[in-house]
Amino acid sequence: MQSFRSNPPAGTPPYVIAHRGISGKAPENTPAAFSMACLSPGIDMIELDVRLSKEEEVIVLHDRSLQRTTTGNGPARNYSLRELQQFDAGSWFNPSFSHERVPLLREVLQFIDRRRWVDIELKSDFLHQEPPGLLERKVLDVVRELGMLDQVLFSSFNHGLMRTLRSIEPSAVTGVIYNMYRDLGRPPSKLAGRVGASVIVCAKYEFTERMLHDAHEHGLALYVYTLNDQGSVRKMMELGVDGILSDNADEIVPIVRGIKQ
Ligand code: G3P
Ligand code: MG
Repeated sequence: MQSFRSNPPAGTPPYVIAHRGISGKAPENTPAAFSMACLSPGIDMIELDVRLSKEEEVIVLHDRSLQRTTTGNGPARNYSLRELQQFDAGSWFNPSFSHERVPLLREVLQFIDRRRWVDIELKSDFLHQEPPGLLERKVLDVVRELGMLDQVLFSSFNHGLMRTLRSIEPSAVTGVIYNMYRDLGRPPSKLAGRVGASVIVCAKYEFTERMLHDAHEHGLALYVYTLNDQGSVRKMMELGVDGILSDNADEIVPIVRGIKQ
């Protein structure tokens, strides 16, 4: 059993983070993908995406619309949990996953339990703006109720959500996700500093050594997504990033930990 006293993880960086679970081998953001991430040794953290259902329950789903990853259509926000349960969230990936459903954050966290740290990415929807503070409160309620604040990193492209979250729960550990078009030229320390975040997350094509240097100079961790090949994992490790998000996190563990394959 790992110790959760330190957040982010206490082990040696870079942390291996399963992006939407083991989404290269099971449908993203489903129990199947999370189960694989819990069972694969050496994975430090599981990343997942959250938004709200019609009755304002926190569900785990990447897109605004159900179309790409389920048999449903249209915005998930228009559907009740009961209705969402009817959609198959696995067949699009492979028919053998037809029993997968869009899960609740509560169910997923209960399942993960103390086995992994969790990066909960709050999705914000430009076409349906949530009332201020609603998503942040709902997510915090679930995490607090389960007593899992000490093993969660909250993150978002919407940095304002991270500010609100920390104003409600000052002990929350947060990360800001870099957006090239909006944040170009702004150093991580500035982006993170203004909302009290301790992690900056960027895409591999956004990454610069300058960003990493600035982050480290200001005591911030920098995580990079989504690295699915050995070459890019090795390169980012050599440069000294603190976290690597991968769709095949199970495959990059041996590279990161220096284990011969
Ligand atoms: O947290 C990094 C990554 O998950 C952000 O992009 O679209 O995969 O949620 P996306
Ligand atoms: Mg995400």
